[in-house]
Amino acid sequence: MRKNIVAGNWKMNNDLAETSELLTHLKMQLVKEPTAEVYIAPAFTCLSHAFQTLKETPIKVAAQNMHFEKKGAFTGEVSAQMLQSVGVSTVILGHSERRAQFNETNEILAKKVSAAIEADMEVIFCFGEELKERKAGEHFDVVKRQLEEGIFHLSKESWKKVILAYEPVWAIGTGETASPDQAQEVHAFVRETIAGKYDEATANEVSILYGGSVKADNAREIFGKEDVDGGLIGGASLNAIDFLAIVNSFE
Ligand code: G3P
Repeated sequence: MRKNIVAGNWKMNNDLAETSELLTHLKMQLVKEPTAEVYIAPAFTCLSHAFQTLKETPIKVAAQNMHFEKKGAFTGEVSAQMLQSVGVSTVILGHSERRAQFNETNEILAKKVSAAIEADMEVIFCFGEELKERKAGEHFDVVKRQLEEGIFHLSKESWKKVILAYEPVWAIGTGETASPDQAQEVHAFVRETIAGKYDEATANEVSILYGGSVKADNAREIFGKEDVDGGLIGGASLNAIDFLAIVNSFE
């Protein structure tokens, strides 16, 4: 079901002590019911601690990745079942850093998406264009291909477990936030593309998050756009006050 969502992608930040400190600050600052569904995605090594620390709060815990196999000789990888065994039932897939640095192709991501959905995980599926693709006016084609090859193999029913995150690569970690209108035009295009593949109901029911230099001072305007349902937050999620200011920036 479509809802306001703010998810913090901590990336490779915070060891166990730092995680504990940030979670304590988040719980202290969480003085009112948030205006959105809230997730934080710590490193694998801190997932269990985060789940146990947050289980009595509205904040959910997500993983930053998973393998598509159930078990076996995949050194360094974790499976959906391993994540679920520590209480985690949501996973971020397709982040541009994994696509670029770990060669995660649309084909590999399609397998990961299938494995996550088959394991009854919720998926936050990331996609977005590179700067050169935006400058060449190819961003709609790129986004459409990432969706078609990475997640459009799912059944209509499976989309109930999908959250989308549009993250223009040129806006990630750069301070170069997409303008609210730039975000809205891609989000609207994505919804139209989903409607064409499936139907209007499916398109209107999926939450589409924006990610890429979202901060406390720009979140309200971006989240106020018709087809933006919240954000996937990197740097600003590492500070409890900044992150919760973003969480509470919905009208
Ligand atoms: O997954 C969210 C992340 O890529 C955005 O990072 O630091 O630009 O908010 P940041």
